[in-house]
Amino acid sequence: MQIRGRLFLISGGASGLGRATAQDLHAHGAFVSVLDLQREAGMELASQLGPERFRFYETDITNSDSIAAAVKGSVEWAKEQQVPLGGVLAAAGTGNAALIINKKNEPVPLSEFDYILKLNLRGTVDLIRQVVPHMTNNAPFGPDSERGVIIMVSSSTAFEGQMGHSAYAASKGAILSMTLPLAREFGRFGIRVMSIAPAWFETKMTARLNESARKNLAKGFEFPKRPGKPEDFALLVRQIVENGMLNGEVIRLDGATRIPSKM
Ligand SMILES: NC(=O)c1ccc[n+]([C@@H]2O[C@H](COP(=O)([O-])OP(=O)(O)OC[C@H]3O[C@@H](n4cnc5c(N)ncnc54)[C@H](O)[C@@H]3O)[C@@H](O)[C@H]2O)c1
Repeated sequence: MQIRGRLFLISGGASGLGRATAQDLHAHGAFVSVLDLQREAGMELASQLGPERFRFYETDITNSDSIAAAVKGSVEWAKEQQVPLGGVLAAAGTGNAALIINKKNEPVPLSEFDYILKLNLRGTVDLIRQVVPHMTNNAPFGPDSERGVIIMVSSSTAFEGQMGHSAYAASKGAILSMTLPLAREFGRFGIRVMSIAPAWFETKMTARLNESARKNLAKGFEFPKRPGKPEDFALLVRQIVENGMLNGEVIRLDGATRIPSKM
C-alpha cells in the first residue's frame, strides 16, 4: 500500500518505536495521528512535524472513551483532508518485572498483572476494534483492492520470556496469537494484520535496564552486535505497509538475538 496521502494512527507514538515510525511515515508523505498519554512529548513532536500532516491526541489507551475521542478526531480530520485511513500501529505498551510468587513467598498482587494485560493487550484490541469500522469504508485501492493495514507490537519475550516477565510475556504472546485470526477476520475487507516482535531496542522503556542487565543481554547478540534502533523498527513498519503479501505473520526483529533465561 502506498504511504503518501494516507492517514496512520499510532498509539504510543510520542516516544520510542512509535515516535520513530510517526517521523518516518510522515517523512514519506503520510498524515499521522499520534495517540499517547505523554502530552509534553506529543506536543514537542507536533512542533517538530508541523500542523499540516500531524495531530497529537492526548489519549489513555486503557480507556475506551479516550480512544473513541482520538479515533473520532482522526476520522474527521481524514474526511476534511479527503485522505483514506491507511493503517494503525498499536505501539502503546510497557513492561514490568514481577515474580508470580515473590521472595517472601507471597503471591503477586493481581493488579500488577492486570495492568500489563490491560495496556498491552486490551488496549491494542480496543484501538483496532474502534478503527476498523472506519477503515472498511475506504474505497478499495490498488490491484488487490486493499483497504488498510494493522500492525501490532509483540516482543522477543513472547518466545523466550525471562523469569519475572510472565505478565509481559502473556500480553505479547497474546498479540502473536491474535495476528493470524485477525488477518483471517479482516481479509474479507482487504485489511492486512501483521505483528513485529522486537528484541532489545534502545527506547525509554529499556533505558531503565541496569548495566549488568545490559551486559547479559549483549551476550546474546549475534549480528549486528548492538541493540535495535527505533529507526530499524520504523523501516520494517514502512516495508510492511508497502508489501501487500505480508499478512497474518509475526516478524522477529532481533538480529538473531535470543534472550537468556536470566539477566
Ligand atoms: N524497546 C524494546 O526493547 C521493546 C522490545 C519489544 C517490544 N517493545 C514494545 O514496543 C512498544 C513500544 O515501546 P517503546 O520501547 O517504544 O517504549 P517507550 O516507553 O519509548 O514508548 C511507549 C509509549 O507508550 C505510551 N503509553 C504508555 N502507556 C500508555 C497509555 N495508557 N495510553 C497511551 N499511551 C501510553 C508512553 O507514553 C510512550 O510514549 C511497547 O508495546 C513495548 O512493549 C519494546
